[in-house]
Amino acid sequence: MPENRYWRLDDHPHGNDFAAAFSLQHEPIPEPGPGQVLIQNSWLSMDAGTRMWITPRTDGYQPPLPLGSKMVGLCLGHVVASRDPNFTEGDLVRCFGQWADYALVDPALSGLVKVDPSVADIREHFGTLGLNALTAWAGLVDVAHVKPEENVLVSAAAGATGSLACQIARNLGCTVIGIAGGPEKCGYLTEELGVARAIDYKHDDVEKALSEVPGGINAYFDNVGGPMLDAALPNMAHYGRIAICGLVATYDSDTPTPGPARFDQILMRRLTITGFFLPDFLDRAANYLPTLREWLDSGKLVMRFDETRGLENTLSAYAGMLTGRNIGKVIVDVRG
Ligand SMILES: NC(=O)c1ccc[n+]([C@@H]2O[C@H](COP(=O)([O-])OP(=O)(O)OC[C@H]3O[C@@H](n4cnc5c(N)ncnc54)[C@H](OP(=O)(O)O)[C@@H]3O)[C@@H](O)[C@H]2O)c1
Repeated sequence: MPENRYWRLDDHPHGNDFAAAFSLQHEPIPEPGPGQVLIQNSWLSMDAGTRMWITPRTDGYQPPLPLGSKMVGLCLGHVVASRDPNFTEGDLVRCFGQWADYALVDPALSGLVKVDPSVADIREHFGTLGLNALTAWAGLVDVAHVKPEENVLVSAAAGATGSLACQIARNLGCTVIGIAGGPEKCGYLTEELGVARAIDYKHDDVEKALSEVPGGINAYFDNVGGPMLDAALPNMAHYGRIAICGLVATYDSDTPTPGPARFDQILMRRLTITGFFLPDFLDRAANYLPTLREWLDSGKLVMRFDETRGLENTLSAYAGMLTGRNIGKVIVDVRG
């Protein structure tokens, strides 16, 4: 009998011990109810932001996932049954579904969208044409208002969102400085992504390195928070803008992230700090996609995929992403 395997959230994880918090369950393949769509997943996207909704915190931008639920995450696959007239069997789709062989979704609640099946590598719908790319664009352009020739700093720069932010800023004519963990990642940034200077936060003095940027940092795309933000604040140019994209340094904690130690610099340098969340920008995303596609086709935007095979190996891929084992986008090939 064909069946559906899915990851169930049994407990709130402690740190990166996901094996104690999730279990792989089996069930019959679900049938879509009225208005629902059933998707056979090909790939799952491992996203740092999902770490927040498996904590008990109720003050995040998403409510916590109730214990006992199927784990929710971004999926890419084909529709196999639909009771929504807008989706038909065979459509290639992306949505917030479940970490499972089959995702059963309500199209509106899951953000279900058809994606272009003619893209040569359809994994790009998780890469250069995916939500990390839209996040990078929104943060740089709509939030940080970057301009050509400005100095743009990106943290977690060799990850999915960060590597796209580096390339988009470079393509817009900015000078890009990236912060990442380790020499291999820093080499990737400067040798393959056109980043002007890469800072290895595990070995370098980040604050000192940033103090050497001529003219200071005009815009900071922050994926990390904590010590990276503290290192950046005294090195911002006057009237600099900081787009707070994420706080990955503190996602494994159940307590609120403390404020920046160098808060004073916001006044002294007349800085603007704005937190942003992609869903608020999705209505504009249709405007970004043609440029992203053009850059993909011309080789001006690339994504390196860190692929794990097999739904049963999802937890290892997830922990790897959160602990920085990845360069680029971490995905799971559900089909094994
Ligand atoms: N606001 C939004 O709408 C939105 C949307 C998408 C993503 N995001 C945010 O974007 C950020 C990146 O997410 P992603 O899914 O693209 O993951 P990712 O960057 O591919 O992977 C996470 C990276 O975080 C870095 N990291 C982990 N712990 C760290 C620490 N303590 N200090 C510094 N760096 C650390 C690791 O790189 P190193 O080896 O360099 O440490 C790791 O590769 C997250 O903060 C996420 O919440 C926000």
